[in-house]
Amino acid sequence: MIKLVNLSKNYSDKNLHILKKINYTFKKGKIYSIVGPSGTGKSTLLNIMSLIDKPSKGELNINKIKINFNDKIKNDTYRARQIGIIYQDNNLLKDFTALENVLIARLTIEDNENRALIDSKKILKKIGLAKRLSHYPNELSGGESQRVAICRAIINSPNILLADEPTGSLDQKNAKEIFKLLIKLKNKNRVIIFATHNLYFANMADCKLKLINGNIKNHNERNAI
Ligand SMILES: Nc1ncnc2c1ncn2[C@@H]1O[C@H](COP(=O)(O)OP(=O)(O)OP(=O)(O)O)[C@@H](O)[C@H]1O
Ligand SMILES: [Mg+2]
Repeated sequence: MIKLVNLSKNYSDKNLHILKKINYTFKKGKIYSIVGPSGTGKSTLLNIMSLIDKPSKGELNINKIKINFNDKIKNDTYRARQIGIIYQDNNLLKDFTALENVLIARLTIEDNENRALIDSKKILKKIGLAKRLSHYPNELSGGESQRVAICRAIINSPNILLADEPTGSLDQKNAKEIFKLLIKLKNKNRVIIFATHNLYFANMADCKLKLINGNIKNHNERNAI
């Protein structure tokens, strides 16, 4: 589903070679974890796959189509429809309620406001936040905020779900809850890729990848979670 071909990322002005000719194919229906030392390029790789950053060399193909990183408008539209992103800090819009944060994401691809509202409420209720719809981010706990961020990431049913240390700022109990939710989001048309420093969570993936010295190594594929 996502194919990296000789994908490289350099900061040539600083003589830094972060990603070095990575070749790897992420398949739909699978969950991948990426571990690796700090500064090794996990976020860089996720940002390229979410079309936010661009590679210095090489290709990114999604569903056999080569991404043109110069076509920003097309890529932004593609991201809104097909890519859900969850960050360490949930990045919720602080002046908007939990419901509005999800709704805004839905309205980027849905013209029918009523339907968007119904869908947004439904997804928040499903994740256990029925009583938090009108809460602003500063009125939510860390775990609740991250659950809103998950709803926002999946409200448009993306086939690609990327998470960059999604529980980095949560305690172990909440982190476990969030990972349980994340794993449940697996479906046959979707690829889920997350970066983490937590080996326990990394092991919950079908495929465990290690990013080291600019390359993906040590992949051991498992059939079941
Ligand atoms: N704009 C930039 N200019 C130069 N170097 C950069 C720039 N952005 C990131 N880097 C460098 O790229 C490297 C990879 O960063 P990245 O954030 O991808 O690491 P990471 O694996 O996600 O680390 P962590 O586990 O700490 O989140 C770092 O050494 C960082 O200093
Ligand atoms: Mg990072």
